[in-house]
Amino acid sequence: MLDTTVLNQQRNFFEGHAAIWLFGYGSLIWKADFDFLERRPAYIHGWERRFWQASHDHRGTPEAPGRVATLIRARDSICHGMAYLITPEVLAPLDVREKNGYLREKVPLTFVDEKGNGIEQSEGLIYLASDDNPAFLGEAPLAEIAQQIASAHGPSGPNREYLVNLAKALRELGAQDAHIFALEKHLGRF
Ligand code: BEZ
Repeated sequence: MLDTTVLNQQRNFFEGHAAIWLFGYGSLIWKADFDFLERRPAYIHGWERRFWQASHDHRGTPEAPGRVATLIRARDSICHGMAYLITPEVLAPLDVREKNGYLREKVPLTFVDEKGNGIEQSEGLIYLASDDNPAFLGEAPLAEIAQQIASAHGPSGPNREYLVNLAKALRELGAQDAHIFALEKHLGRF
């Protein structure tokens, strides 16, 4: 397993900043187990969420990996999530938690109002598992992805819980996400 912890500690895009906006698009939307100063619904432009990254250490095992969220480039799309204003020391434990292929990336993000309209912009940080990391699984038929999610379990719990909680959190945000809601429907069959 590639361990990205050390690589991430060199990716100090916000060196000297007292606070950083961290954009969550996966488990961070519904499970923020870190301190934050403020939290705001937001989106990033040019990205779509996909369950294309293997989880060997949280929602699956090396023998039976689960699938978790990453992002792919999609020029005209937006990906909704939750932005957290954090102090820099919050990143070190996240680097460890997300060590299976995720790298810190700097992105522009847009905060939204209660109707989902963009109101303000800032630079922020995402954890991205790109298609060249060893745990990247890539595309598969939705039914196959859902079946893998339905059967996988890991130290952080059932893989199913990750998808169900993410879909629920996106509904609460009023966010559209065709991939996630289609996967949730397929999951109901397993
Ligand atoms: C997130 O929820 O933004 C996230 C997803 C995968 C790894 C790290 C963060």
